[in-house]
Amino acid sequence: MESNAIANPLQAIKYTRGNLQLLDQRLLPFQTVYLEVPDVKAAWTQIRDMVVRGAPAIGCTGALAMAVELNNHKDAGKAFSSVQEAVDFINTTLDYLVTSRPTAVNLADAAAKLKAATSAAAAAPAATPTSVCGAVIAAAEAFLEEDIAANKAMGATGAAALLSAARAAGRGVGGRLRVLTHCNTGSLATAGFGTALGVIRALHEQGALEHAFCTETRPYNQGARLTAFELAHDGLPATLICDSAAAALMAAGQVDAVVVGADRVVANGDTANKIGTKSLSISASHFGIPFFIAAPTTTLDPELPSGEHIVIEQRPQEEVTHFRGVRVAAEGVNVWNPSFDVAQAPLIAGIITEKGMIPKKEGAFQVRDFMSQLGL
Ligand code: MRU
Repeated sequence: MESNAIANPLQAIKYTRGNLQLLDQRLLPFQTVYLEVPDVKAAWTQIRDMVVRGAPAIGCTGALAMAVELNNHKDAGKAFSSVQEAVDFINTTLDYLVTSRPTAVNLADAAAKLKAATSAAAAAPAATPTSVCGAVIAAAEAFLEEDIAANKAMGATGAAALLSAARAAGRGVGGRLRVLTHCNTGSLATAGFGTALGVIRALHEQGALEHAFCTETRPYNQGARLTAFELAHDGLPATLICDSAAAALMAAGQVDAVVVGADRVVANGDTANKIGTKSLSISASHFGIPFFIAAPTTTLDPELPSGEHIVIEQRPQEEVTHFRGVRVAAEGVNVWNPSFDVAQAPLIAGIITEKGMIPKKEGAFQVRDFMSQLGL
């Protein structure tokens, strides 16, 4: 197989101890500006306002903002007077952080892991406020590296899964795949490489990508602005389509597989992802095209039994009525702007994680069993 290694990946999150910066994704693809994240309050606003977005990137940002806040708390001489005071501050701040965006579970997962690190450190016999804060900072710092490693592993597993499913369905062009994706799930949505876009990158690196198609992803245009930017940046063969062209592209026989990311995968495998994902899953099923989800285990939520329990974030109506501040919709019309929808498990060919594929039995994925076998 030929090799197409990708150099100089884009970086959504820059972190050194005490300093966190986010690439302002609202300005892409026209300007590359990094914004400081001095504390959790700033991170909350930046997550809500889409400076950073994408489930794994939101989780990493939240964790690292907590680390910066604790580091700077100490540097500013605002020492905690007791272990309990530090624990209360950390837990309250994490509870606040997860209210910034409700659908992606990664932020809640990050908060739960940092709370667990907090209570473990506080329970140690020689615990001090400094040791508790140090443990939380270390746990947060592990997130970035873990997310990049998870994405690389998902890329390898996902590339093999897509190739095998497409082969079984008699699809592909000389063993190479034409893959459709939605929203942005690449370096900009993660700590690096990406989930669904990571699978496409892995196919490309193996010489097994014939073509990538990305949707515009209305109304916020994560596909046109961000995924198209990443694909062009990496020099992958790629074409941008309107969201509404996806079924026609499939009908024209141009799609061998679909792979998208996830904001929350619940116990039966129902998956919340960017609005339009449900339509893609239904169209893919209609045309017999394998439809995959790529998501790190931090996106799994075994607590919810099925998709109808997922809270779907409603975004401001201006995202639909305006384009870069210019009104494009008629005055006086109502707007419904859910940011996500749910692809149902029976329509999903496979869920790719960094720990392998989630087993599926009688149309439902076995998310709980999969996690408990991994000790998650
Ligand atoms: O509203 P966004 O841009 O945060 O939505 C992002 C998505 O829906 C992604 O597909 C999902 O978070 C997975 S990112 C690896």
